[in-house]
Amino acid sequence: MSKPTFRRATLADGAAMWRIARDSRVLDLNTSYAYLIMARDFGEHSSVVEVDGEVVGFCMSYLRPADPSTLFVWQIAVDSSQRGKGLAGRLLEETVRATGATALESTVTADNDASNALFAGFAARSGATETITEFITPDHFPADDVHGAELLHRIEPLPGA
Ligand SMILES: CC(C)(COP(=O)(O)OP(=O)(O)OC[C@H]1O[C@@H](n2cnc3c(N)ncnc32)[C@H](O)[C@@H]1OP(=O)(O)O)[C@@H](O)C(=O)NCCC(=O)NCCS
Repeated sequence: MSKPTFRRATLADGAAMWRIARDSRVLDLNTSYAYLIMARDFGEHSSVVEVDGEVVGFCMSYLRPADPSTLFVWQIAVDSSQRGKGLAGRLLEETVRATGATALESTVTADNDASNALFAGFAARSGATETITEFITPDHFPADDVHGAELLHRIEPLPGA
């Protein structure tokens, strides 16, 4: 197995991102078209990790238009065959470094242990504070799309550029 390599994302990575999101069975799966467009337009603010020439994980994120020093992580996932090796943590680190963000935000449902541990670990390694607040409540979702609350995790300060 080759060493994992990290790079920014491009349109060509959208299909792999969709597949990894689908196979996670945890993430809300959006259309493949959404991953392609997000990868094109936010690829500079997003990262993928490759092992043996295959994309095995991604961090789909963007600098918030209203606050460009904050990186919002829309979805992050690692193929189940590659979990527990620190790849998701490194995806966050690489993306923050590449964008020069000084804060990171993401939303997480309270029952997602791996995701909660991922952001807590990243904050601890960065020497930053993680603040968790109410954000998107079940009432925000359409009545016929039952969904648990998405808590907002904000991690700062990060070193920046
Ligand atoms: C969440 C996810 C991306 C983590 O990927 P990963 O590469 O295995 O994560 P890492 O190896 O970098 O581990 C990150 C931290 O989470 C912890 N962790 C990983 N899996 C865990 C689990 N199932 N339960 C509890 N903690 C877990 C690790 O011990 C590590 O903690 P540390 O930083 O204190 O050492 C992966 O489990 C995944 O793709 N899940 C499905 C999609 C998802 O839920 N995405 C997040 C919501 S957007």
